[in-house]
Amino acid sequence: MPTVQACLFDLDGVIVDTAKYHYLAWRQLANRLGFDLSLEQNELLKGISRMESLDIILKIGGVELGEEEKLKLAAEKNVRYLELCKQITPDDALPGVRDFLDELRRDHIKVGLGSASKNAKTILTNLDMLSYFDTLVDGNRVTKGKPDPQVFLMGAEDLAVSPEYCIVFEDAVAGIQSAKAAGMIGVGIGEASVLTEADLVIKGFEGVTVSDLFEKLK
Ligand code: BG6
Ligand code: MG
Repeated sequence: MPTVQACLFDLDGVIVDTAKYHYLAWRQLANRLGFDLSLEQNELLKGISRMESLDIILKIGGVELGEEEKLKLAAEKNVRYLELCKQITPDDALPGVRDFLDELRRDHIKVGLGSASKNAKTILTNLDMLSYFDTLVDGNRVTKGKPDPQVFLMGAEDLAVSPEYCIVFEDAVAGIQSAKAAGMIGVGIGEASVLTEADLVIKGFEGVTVSDLFEKLK
């Protein structure tokens, strides 16, 4: 393994569990349109941008709408989502992730965010974790969603690190595909049976040290 110079983190599902709030807000919208959204269907939306998620949901419900109406619904969903996100506090960082980031900083390894979310800055602010990141690449900057490598390539460029010296931490299949397409090391957060294209899969950061992780990637 080449010497790691940067770590790029997805947000939702890696640093904080926001999937439950996305689900509540999308479900409310689906219910209003006359159908339901299961937790299983919600899985399809992980790592996927807001507008693409809405398209998937409308397809599930067999609802066809014009562009203007879709933009309105997506905006309404986001208002509800942000209302729910107000309850996020520093205690909501997923177990072990803060210690892991502290260790990266001590080791002078650069840290970036690579998220599809347009709300990334707000959520990191609620978690009081903005200061860990040397750069933020979020849904406001990218033009191509995961699995396109753009989000992570932009992060590496911001940090002036070549892709082969970057590790990406991702919970979504599309996110791991994005990391691999960028020529980076992809560490999956979740189940190995799901994240089959990852170089390594861990359940989460609890009890995981930077040196242990690098050792496992060798
Ligand atoms: C990703 C989430 O991180 O961000 C997706 O996994 C979400 O579920 C996407 O749709 C966009 O988020 P936002 O906050 O811009 O609506
Ligand atoms: Mg994610």
